[in-house]
Amino acid sequence: MIGVFDSGYGGLTILSQIRQILPEYDYLYLGDNARAPYGTRSFNVIYEYTLQAVNYLHQQGCNLIILACNTASAKALRTIQQRDINPNKLRVLGVIRPTVEVIPQRTQTKHIGVLATPGTVASESYVIELLKQDSSLTVTQQACPMWVPLIESGEHLYNGANYFVDKYLTELLSRDPLIDTIILGCTHYPLLLPKIEAFLSSHANHPSLIAKRPISVISQGSIVADSFADYLRRHPEFPQDSKGGTCHFLTTESASKFAESASLFLSEPIQAHHIEL
Ligand code: DGL
Repeated sequence: MIGVFDSGYGGLTILSQIRQILPEYDYLYLGDNARAPYGTRSFNVIYEYTLQAVNYLHQQGCNLIILACNTASAKALRTIQQRDINPNKLRVLGVIRPTVEVIPQRTQTKHIGVLATPGTVASESYVIELLKQDSSLTVTQQACPMWVPLIESGEHLYNGANYFVDKYLTELLSRDPLIDTIILGCTHYPLLLPKIEAFLSSHANHPSLIAKRPISVISQGSIVADSFADYLRRHPEFPQDSKGGTCHFLTTESASKFAESASLFLSEPIQAHHIEL
């Protein structure tokens, strides 16, 4: 079984894309909604929470787990891979490496913007990994601490969220007007894509913000899904005995609340179960 973990609903944007191209596998999604957001928490807390989730999913029979969370990928993945798991029994993968690998082909100005949680920004993981891909890139990061709470509470659907979309995009683009590629470096953020694109098109001619060139906004779902499919081709031993096409959902919050919100995100009715980590 393949485990997919996020602090909350954001990982569903990754899960849905993976299931589209790999529908035959069995999936177990775990959202730690009761303790979201992770992005404003300390390194140690994010590591502890992520390790608890990984151990839980492993106990349920997952021998391949995707941290569908940039904050956990940035702050906990390497330690867990190096210190906490036996790679013959369990593999844990993140979402940052596959994302940065496609970026150099997608930019013309070589100026990249990264929108992410405060934790991911503080880790500098995107800057480090992007410069490993191409040392001539200019990378500007913008922390968006209000976006995950807006999405977890369902407020991203309403006009009140526009204020914080405009605020963080204006800050990012005024710090580097040459940006032509913006990475949504948090798996929750694709839920705000309609508002982000509306902002960019309504400010397209604003010279102080955007140098009159189209800006592409990169969501991670399909990129991570393609990279994961490639990983499975290279590692046919993972996941063993897991081709029933099932998908189950676990949350540390109320199961009915999770099922209601997740059904909206996935555009299909789902059932969820409450667990304690
Ligand atoms: N979806 C998580 C990420 O990609 C959100 C982290 C949070 O809970 O703040 O970073």
